[in-house]
Amino acid sequence: MSGPNRHVVRDADELDLVSADLVGETINANPTARIVAATGRTPMGLYATLAGRRRDDTLDTSGITIYQLDEYLGLEPDDGRSLFGWMRRSVLEPLDVPEERVRRLPLEGDLDAGCTAFDAELDGRGPLDLAILGLGLNGHLGFNEPPSDAASGTRVVQLSPMTIQANSDYWGPDAGVPAAAVTMGMHHLLSARRIVLLVSGAGKHAIVRRALEGPVGPDVPASFLQQATGDVQVVVDRAAWGEG
Ligand code: PGA
Repeated sequence: MSGPNRHVVRDADELDLVSADLVGETINANPTARIVAATGRTPMGLYATLAGRRRDDTLDTSGITIYQLDEYLGLEPDDGRSLFGWMRRSVLEPLDVPEERVRRLPLEGDLDAGCTAFDAELDGRGPLDLAILGLGLNGHLGFNEPPSDAASGTRVVQLSPMTIQANSDYWGPDAGVPAAAVTMGMHHLLSARRIVLLVSGAGKHAIVRRALEGPVGPDVPASFLQQATGDVQVVVDRAAWGEG
């Protein structure tokens, strides 16, 4: 275990290019890669860059499978705040991934049973090939809010006030952010063969340092990346990383 490999990049453009190279390398080596793809602001330029490479025929995404990372509970399917809707617009449509190659989180019925079935499907097919993740201001990965331990499975979670506040920036102050969600658990994220964590902006400085250099534990779920056994690649801009 060698620990995360860090790429400190100049700005958002370089973040998109470096992360697109890492993701492209994974897909080129394994055209049927199983990938969990985060929403959030940080990876949007990455997905646009990958879409451009697909259009240029330098990237073949026709065989990949996309797993849903997280979703709010209690929304109608066509609600503008749906993270699945965001993923459809930013990942599935631009990369031309059809519904049958998407694995969705359970949002209805017996959620505990649905989460168990989701994890069983993951377990049955082996580790994910790639996890594309952002970093929450509180150190969350997906909606694995603190405290989340490394073995946690897919489950229903209550969102912290900090995450609700951060997510309200996506939808506007009056839209409201649901307080409950479903998230893929830490276990399957941490066991991915490759993890690409994207971090941008001065607002993430303290938390990215804590996650990568601080003590490892459930209070900063992303700190478990220090112990992940796969290939962990952190692409962080200078504003977030600072000097040194
Ligand atoms: P962001 O979200 O990319 O919009 O900063 C990251 C996260 O909360 O996981």
